[in-house]
Amino acid sequence: MDKNFLWGGATASYQCEGAWNVDEKQESMWDHYLHLQELENGDIASDHYHRYEEDIRMMKEGGQTSYRFSLSWPRIIKNREGEVNQKGLDFYHKIIDTCHKYDIEPFVTLYHWDLPQYWEETGGWLNLDVCQAFEHFSEVCFKEFSDKIKFWTTFNEPKWFIVNGYFIGNYPPGLQNVQKTMIAAYHVMYASALSVRAFRAGNYPGQIGVVHSYTPVNGVNDSIETKIAMRYADNYCNNWILDTAAKGEFPIDLVAKLSESYDVSFMEEEHLSIIKQNTVDFIGLNYYARTLVKPYTTGETQLIFNHTGKKGESKVVIKGWFEQVKDPNSEFTAWDTEIYPKGLEDGLIEAYERYQLPIFVTENGVGVREDVTVDCVNDDYRISFMNDHINAIMNAQDAGCDIRGYYTWSPFDLYSWKNGCEKRYGLVAVDFDNNQIRKPKKSYYWFKEIIESQAKLIQRKKYN
Ligand code: BG6
Repeated sequence: MDKNFLWGGATASYQCEGAWNVDEKQESMWDHYLHLQELENGDIASDHYHRYEEDIRMMKEGGQTSYRFSLSWPRIIKNREGEVNQKGLDFYHKIIDTCHKYDIEPFVTLYHWDLPQYWEETGGWLNLDVCQAFEHFSEVCFKEFSDKIKFWTTFNEPKWFIVNGYFIGNYPPGLQNVQKTMIAAYHVMYASALSVRAFRAGNYPGQIGVVHSYTPVNGVNDSIETKIAMRYADNYCNNWILDTAAKGEFPIDLVAKLSESYDVSFMEEEHLSIIKQNTVDFIGLNYYARTLVKPYTTGETQLIFNHTGKKGESKVVIKGWFEQVKDPNSEFTAWDTEIYPKGLEDGLIEAYERYQLPIFVTENGVGVREDVTVDCVNDDYRISFMNDHINAIMNAQDAGCDIRGYYTWSPFDLYSWKNGCEKRYGLVAVDFDNNQIRKPKKSYYWFKEIIESQAKLIQRKKYN
C-alpha cells in the first residue's frame, strides 16, 4: 500500500455531534422531522460536539491517518440571508486543529443531509434558490477553512437521501412523488456543480469530489433482458450521480426514458453547461453492498427498506425497469444488507475504467446490535468484514485502479438515521446509556495493526 494512502473513519455531523440547539445552531430538517414524529433522534447522539478531542485522539492512538466528517450547514449559516454563525465556524476550527495536532488528515463533506429547516420550509431541494444557498455555504467554508483542508466533497450520497426523501418517503421531507424526486435530484447535482465552480473560482488549494452510495449492479444471468434490467438499475442506482459529477452529463438514455412519462423541462441549458464545466477531481465511493437484479416481471413499484433489524423486510421493484433479488448463497445482516466484498473489487474496477479518476472508499462497515457494557466488544465479524473489503481494494489496486484511501463507517458508534442507536458500526463502543463512555472494540486494535503494517497483515483472497 502506498505510504500516502489514507486510513480512517467517517462520520456525519447529525449522527455524532449532538448539541442540536447549542451555540446558535439552527434546526435542521432532520431535527424537525424526528422531533415531529417523536422518533429516536440525534439530539445528543455521540456528543461529539463536546467529546471531539477524545474521539480524534483515539483515532490517532488507533493508528488512523485521516478523519472524514461533515460540516453542519445549520450550525454555520443562521438564516436565509446567509448570515454566518461565528460559533459554528469556531467549532469546526477546533475539530480541524485537533486533527492537525494529531497528524490526522481532515477530509470534509459539505452536505451530509442536514439541510437547514429554514430552507426546507421554502421547498428544500425542490427550490432552485437552495442551490444558490448551497453555493454560498460552500464559499463560506472554502474561504474559512481552505488553508487547513486538502480534501473536500460536495454531497454525501445524493441517491440515498433523494430516493428516501422524495420517492420512498421514509426520510424527510417524506414525499412519494416521482416528478419531485427528479427535480430534487437534478437540483442537488446542479448545486454540487455550483460548489465545484466556487471552489475553482476561488483557486483554493486541494481537491474537490463527490461521495456516492455505490451499489455496483450484477445480473442473475447473461440474457439480453437481464442486461437491459441491469442498465436501468445502474442508471437508477449509480449513473445519474457519477456520470453527472465526473463527466458532466446525465445519462442520456435515463433522461429519454423519464421524459416519456414526466416533465423534464426543469433541465435548463444554462444549468447543464455549468454541470458540464464543473466536474470533480476525484470520486468517493461508499460501499455496503451490490445490487443484484433480474428483469421486471409484474406488479407496482415497491421500495421497502428495513429499519427494524428484522431480516427479510426489504424489497426493491421498479415497475417496467428491474427487480432486485437476493442471492441465496450470500450472508445478510439483520438489516438485510448483503455481505459481498467481491462487489467492491468489481465496482472499483468498473468505476475506475469508466471515470479514470482517483477513488477514495469513503465509507465501508457493518451495522449490528452489540452489548457495549462488556470491557471490550469481541467483534470478529467486523474484523472479517473489514479484512475482506480491504482485500477487495487491494485486488482492485493490483488490477490498476488508483485508490487513495479507506474510511470505515464508523470510527466510533453513532446514531443511524431511522434505525436509531442500536445499529452500531463503530470501532469504538459508545455507551449511550452510561455517560457516553468510549471503549475500543477488538476491531479497533486490529485496524491499528493493519494500518501500521500498511495492510501487509491482510489475509489475501482472490474473488475473481
Ligand atoms: C451511508 C451514510 O448511507 O450509510 C451514513 O452515508 C449511514 O450516513 C451509513 O449512517 C449506514 O447506513 P445506516 O442507515 O445503517 O445508518
